[in-house]
Amino acid sequence: MRKPIIAGNWKMNKLILEAVELAREIKNRTGSVANKEIVLCPPFTALSSVKEVLEDSPIKLGAQNMHWEVRGAYTGEVSPMMLKDVGCTYVILGHSERRQYFGETNSIVKKKVRTAFSTGLVPIVCVGETLPEREKGETLRVLEEQVKTGLSELTREEGKGLVVAYEPVWAIGTGKTATPDQAEEAQRFIRKLLGQMFGGESAQAIRILYGGSINPDNISALMSCEDVDGGLVGGASLNVESFVKIVNY
Ligand code: PGA
Repeated sequence: MRKPIIAGNWKMNKLILEAVELAREIKNRTGSVANKEIVLCPPFTALSSVKEVLEDSPIKLGAQNMHWEVRGAYTGEVSPMMLKDVGCTYVILGHSERRQYFGETNSIVKKKVRTAFSTGLVPIVCVGETLPEREKGETLRVLEEQVKTGLSELTREEGKGLVVAYEPVWAIGTGKTATPDQAEEAQRFIRKLLGQMFGGESAQAIRILYGGSINPDNISALMSCEDVDGGLVGGASLNVESFVKIVNY
């Protein structure tokens, strides 16, 4: 019922020509994939060129961040309107690297999520616990706070259109993936919270992705979990071979 999403988060990698080449190869090699939604999230500077490559393909474009205001005196920031303008459908919000290195809090995430919806962008809202939090048994509490605050300003109808990504911080870029049981436990819990906030029907429609060291060898086991509806792929999305294998898990 929920169409899986495989999203590539290219982070701060790829110059324009490299991005165009990667996008073109991915397009050529995933052209016949109809049962999954593929999303590419290049850096801001490559959005426009990658959009041109994807023009005649079902692959969607996403950004990795945005400001919470649509315009104004915010030197160096990129607005959601600008992302719409360049052809983005999705925007990753609250990624743990933004939280960790750029001071993004749950209340900043909340403002961004609110604006994404008002602008017509679909947010991929990232949540996840750090290793010390997991070791102290605080995983579910942390997730609850991130979900309840970050998504608190959405209506039930908007909630339905949301995408959430569970990304345990200790699994990002470390080669340590959550086990399918760990992913399922967290993601089932997130869906339960979404049900409390937006109603059961909406919660059943919301795609919850897993992210954190996904590779071609672990994607199938993760995707076999009931509440895992796709993947947010970092490192392995920078290489056409591994990304295409993940798409075709
Ligand atoms: P990774 O990154 O696949 O390199 O662990 C995932 C992410 O940060 O979205």
